[in-house]
Amino acid sequence: MAILRRANQRLLERFPGGNRYYLAGSKTGSRMLHVGEILWSPGSGMPPHIHPEPKAEESQLMLDGELELVYDGITYTMGPGDVALAPPGVPHAWTNRSNKTARMITVFPMNDPTTKDVDAPSPKKGPQPRGVVFRKDMKSTVFAPGITRYDLVTEAQGAKSTFFSMLYLEPGSKAPTHYHPATEEAQYIVKGELTAVYGNEVTVCRTGDLYLAEPGLRHGFTNKSDELAVLLAIHPVAKIERVLVDDSDLPY
Ligand SMILES: [Fe+2]
Repeated sequence: MAILRRANQRLLERFPGGNRYYLAGSKTGSRMLHVGEILWSPGSGMPPHIHPEPKAEESQLMLDGELELVYDGITYTMGPGDVALAPPGVPHAWTNRSNKTARMITVFPMNDPTTKDVDAPSPKKGPQPRGVVFRKDMKSTVFAPGITRYDLVTEAQGAKSTFFSMLYLEPGSKAPTHYHPATEEAQYIVKGELTAVYGNEVTVCRTGDLYLAEPGLRHGFTNKSDELAVLLAIHPVAKIERVLVDDSDLPY
C-alpha cells in the first residue's frame, strides 16, 4: 500500500492504440481495487466485451476528449465528466472516432478482473440505462466548505459494490481526516496539488499520483495551493463506512 507517484507508474499497451497507466491492482498491492487510466489514440477502440466475474462491475469516467460507447447495443457519445457503469456481463465497446487522444479512468471493485470478447449485440434503441450518466445531468453537493462533490457511480446507477466520486477542492479547503475500517480507498489526483495525511505522515500529492489507503489507515486532504484541485475517490463498496479521526498530532 502506498502512494504511487506518476513517475513510478507503468504505462503499458492495453490494446492497439490504447495505453494504460496501471494505477492500482494486485501488482501495486491492492487487494480490493483495480484502477487504470487509459489513453485512446485517434482510431483506437476496444471491441464488444464483458467482464465475467460476479464482482466485476466496471466504472468508466471520461476525463478528456470524446469516445463512442456502445452499451448493451445502444450508442452514445461520451465526453469529459460522463460516466458509464457496466455491470458484470453487460457488453460494452469504446471507439475513438475523433482526431484527438481521449483519456478515461477505469475502476473495478476487485483487483484482477478479466476481459472476454463477445459478439456485438444487435443495435437497439431504448431508454437510457441508469448506468450511463452525462455530467450535464449530475447534481453536485457541498461535501465540506470549499469542496464540491459529484457522485459518479453509486447504488442509484445500479452499483453493487462501487462508490466513485469526484471532488473539486478550492484553495484552503480541507477534506476531514478519517478512515474506513474494512475497505481500501483509492484516491487519484486528476489536477492540482493536495497536502495529504497518510497514516502518521504528511505528504504532497500532485497530478497523476494515486493514493491507496488500506483499511484502517487515516487519510485526508487539504488544498494548501492557490489553485483548484480535482480528486477522484474510489471505494470497493456501495455503502461506505467512514470514521472521522483527529489529526492535530500532525504538522498539517
Ligand atoms: Fe476516505
